[in-house]
Amino acid sequence: MSLFDMQGKTVVVVGGAGYLALPACVLLAEHGATVVVADRNREQLGKAEAAVRQALPGARVSSLFVDVADEASINRLVEDTLSVHGRLDGMVNASCAAIGKRLEDLQADEFEQANRVNITGFFLLSRRAAEAMPDGGSIVMISSMYGIVAPDPRMYHAPMLPNPIEYGTAKAGILQMTRYMAAHYGPRNIRVNAIAPGPFPKAWKYEGEQAFIERLADRTMLGRVGRQNEIAGAVAFLVSDASTFVTGHCLRVDGGWTQW
Ligand SMILES: NC(=O)c1ccc[n+]([C@@H]2O[C@H](COP(=O)([O-])OP(=O)(O)OC[C@H]3O[C@@H](n4cnc5c(N)ncnc54)[C@H](O)[C@@H]3O)[C@@H](O)[C@H]2O)c1
Repeated sequence: MSLFDMQGKTVVVVGGAGYLALPACVLLAEHGATVVVADRNREQLGKAEAAVRQALPGARVSSLFVDVADEASINRLVEDTLSVHGRLDGMVNASCAAIGKRLEDLQADEFEQANRVNITGFFLLSRRAAEAMPDGGSIVMISSMYGIVAPDPRMYHAPMLPNPIEYGTAKAGILQMTRYMAAHYGPRNIRVNAIAPGPFPKAWKYEGEQAFIERLADRTMLGRVGRQNEIAGAVAFLVSDASTFVTGHCLRVDGGWTQW
């Protein structure tokens, strides 16, 4: 049997309606998983479920609302998943928040608002998911290369805002949360890993910013930016039995950005 076969596993993907997580939902379903696409964006949620079905007719996929800034909502997501599917084997968290102001302009309450999703939300969701995994499981947190290295301000030429401080601060925190939880849950055979994507600019967001995209591409060893479907394989690897001895790890999917 293929190590990547996920038949019988139920995997929740939070932020699942987003740019990088949606192809991961499709790939998980292709490998037999029952996928719950969970997101705060209700409009995109329905579209994401439909997109998975369109990519894979007959996919076992459903969608549920969740706001990871709200503990009651996290609890409902896990309880609803258990009541519909009877089990939880994988929890992938690809949500994120950023205020996007310059360091000098960021207010304390805005900093905390981002942390509520990126740190507290990741903590509460992972802990609740682990409670629902009596037979073991896999938790995957999406961090960022900017949790490992600082954004080089010279890449973000004026008037472009640099990648904001609240984002990378939390992404670095997620990496330590991953190691801590991996150690804590290891005896229960719950593996906890992170993925640190490199540059995956959304084409529509950077229209007219070709020079910026080229600067990003030049900074990687592979000389290009990431494609939308290039996080999915890492997610499937970490959720599946192909990685049963991998825990506490951060898998960098960054074209080599952080390696030179
Ligand atoms: N795109 C990149 O270049 C890049 C680079 C490094 C890391 N990442 C990380 O990868 C992950 C996915 O990024 P993306 O580019 O696909 O972003 P995206 O904005 O397309 O997707 C994020 C999803 O999370 C959802 N979300 C936001 N707040 C939420 C909340 N409180 N509760 C539930 N859902 C919420 C959004 O509705 C959205 O669907 C993020 O964690 C991001 O930080 C992305």
